[in-house]
Amino acid sequence: MGIIVLDFGGQYAHLIANRIRRLRVFAEIRSPTTDVSELADADGFILSGGPSSVYDEEAPSYNREIFAMGKPMLGLCYGHQLLCHRLGGQVEPGQTHEFGAAYLQVAEATGVLEGMDAREVVWMSHRDHVATIPEGFRVLGSTEDCPVAAMGDHERKIYGLQFHPEVTHSVRGMEMLENFVALTGAERSWTMERYIEETMERVRVQAEGRKVFLLVSGGVDSSVAFLLLNRALGEDRVLGLHIDNGFMRKGETALVERLMKESGFANLKVVDASDDFLQVTEGLAEPEAKRLAIGEEFVRVRDRALAALELDPEEWLLGQGTLYTDTIESGGTENAALIKTHHNRVGVIEELLAEGKVVEPLDQLYKDEARELGETLGLPHHLVWRHPFPGPGLAVRALCSEGAAAMEGMDEVEAEAQKAAARFGLELAVLPLQSVGVQGDARTYAHPAVVTGPGEWENLEALSTELTNNFTSINRVIWLLGPEQRPLQGLKRGFLTRDRLDLLREADAINMAALERHGLMQEVTQMPTVLVPLSSDGVQESVVLRPISTDDFMTARFSQLSRDFLDDVCGRLLALEGIEAVFYDITHKPPGTVEWE
Ligand code: XMP
Repeated sequence: MGIIVLDFGGQYAHLIANRIRRLRVFAEIRSPTTDVSELADADGFILSGGPSSVYDEEAPSYNREIFAMGKPMLGLCYGHQLLCHRLGGQVEPGQTHEFGAAYLQVAEATGVLEGMDAREVVWMSHRDHVATIPEGFRVLGSTEDCPVAAMGDHERKIYGLQFHPEVTHSVRGMEMLENFVALTGAERSWTMERYIEETMERVRVQAEGRKVFLLVSGGVDSSVAFLLLNRALGEDRVLGLHIDNGFMRKGETALVERLMKESGFANLKVVDASDDFLQVTEGLAEPEAKRLAIGEEFVRVRDRALAALELDPEEWLLGQGTLYTDTIESGGTENAALIKTHHNRVGVIEELLAEGKVVEPLDQLYKDEARELGETLGLPHHLVWRHPFPGPGLAVRALCSEGAAAMEGMDEVEAEAQKAAARFGLELAVLPLQSVGVQGDARTYAHPAVVTGPGEWENLEALSTELTNNFTSINRVIWLLGPEQRPLQGLKRGFLTRDRLDLLREADAINMAALERHGLMQEVTQMPTVLVPLSSDGVQESVVLRPISTDDFMTARFSQLSRDFLDDVCGRLLALEGIEAVFYDITHKPPGTVEWE
């Protein structure tokens, strides 16, 4: 039957299933409380990570009988700790919190670690750790801060890894998962074509007798969903609507129209609703408030468009290009924590979902799978490989502020952080604004630190990791690109206004053009340009570049681009009227999310 992933609420639970499917083995996510009668055919279980501690009263409940089934098991992060706890070992709160890259010292290259070298780069995100292993287990590997990073009982084929082999930054993680799959003897026969067939059938059953109306942003996800729905139901039963919400990139709407026409879709309409969106977000500064307002306005605009088209709402379902990542980060599965609300997971849509009125053909997939699906369905290559752009668009890249903010209790943190920076020959300040991050499977909303001075990537990376690991009030680190001296900046009042959005649109267009010019569109997976209301005169403000590379968007590395590129964009951005400083985000994910809000 394949591998069952038991979801303990980890941000990576579905990524594990994605990885197993990449190994061409069927994988399915199930609740840990599932009855064993439904799991009898499983070849093995993977226990996901999760935001809890095994000692929490509200730790996810699970069916103890699963552990007595005698099947191979692999516990990851929280799953590793749970295995230990359940089988008679000891879990302890960690002294240091470990986030990001770590070196695994392999003690025994056996079982899941078969074929590994003495030292492997792995990706950690945890607080608790295993202190004493259960009887019958052996320690297979450790890291500097984690004495039992890998353990195994070869006889029972039960393994635990404190790190996340499922993320691509665990360099040989796929081989470790492959080792486990081989140990279970699961059949390797799963394909994308099979997924398409199954999904089209699922869509046909759900939409039986009805039609589907879909908002098409022009991004990869909604385009692929649009195509799949067209294929499954036929053009007559699908209608696409592109809403210009005023938060689009420069020239975006025109491009979407052209691309869809070229792809042969005649069932796409376009409306300009930018005034409406500016109105509902007027005066809002808090990221979640902005996201909610935008999400709800999407639905209102959709309803108005439906009314104008005189489509019967009973006859039409709502289609969405939601990926699994959008659901998980909105706290949309049983045990997951809320990281940020994606626009397709707000209240009104939740209600429609509960009524079975939302069709989401990609809801089990990750970005890389959605792209593979697009290619398999024949969507043009350039459309499939465009950089992703969030639904709320530039609205979540223009940070808003009520003006000067107090920074209580931050002096001490800043002084300590400055000492760390000084060791690298850099100066540091903690900024009076906040951005969203993700650490240990939970959302953070904390301060960025800015470092100034000449930096080598290696030093900047080490300092950034050190700061975010040691100070909970710092979840992001940025580096000053220009001007040479950072102006003494405070926080200016700034909201989602046309002027600010136009400024950000210009800055973003400059950055995208530079990526093209320097041939970096593939190497850099995404490069949000963020407008931050840091200002020395209450008029001008600042821009942050956030180039990252990632395969799955659940984890990401900040890109280390050439001095040539940096000088080129920095010069052009500083020449823009209204921009006084340019920064570069040097934070991996975790601890920072890709977007700032
Ligand atoms: P984060 O910021 O969560 O971003 O690390 C991961 C990926 O998701 C995109 N993103 C969104 N996409 N609606 C979307 O369609 C949203 O509300 C949203 N928020 C983030 C982000 O651009 C990145 O690719």
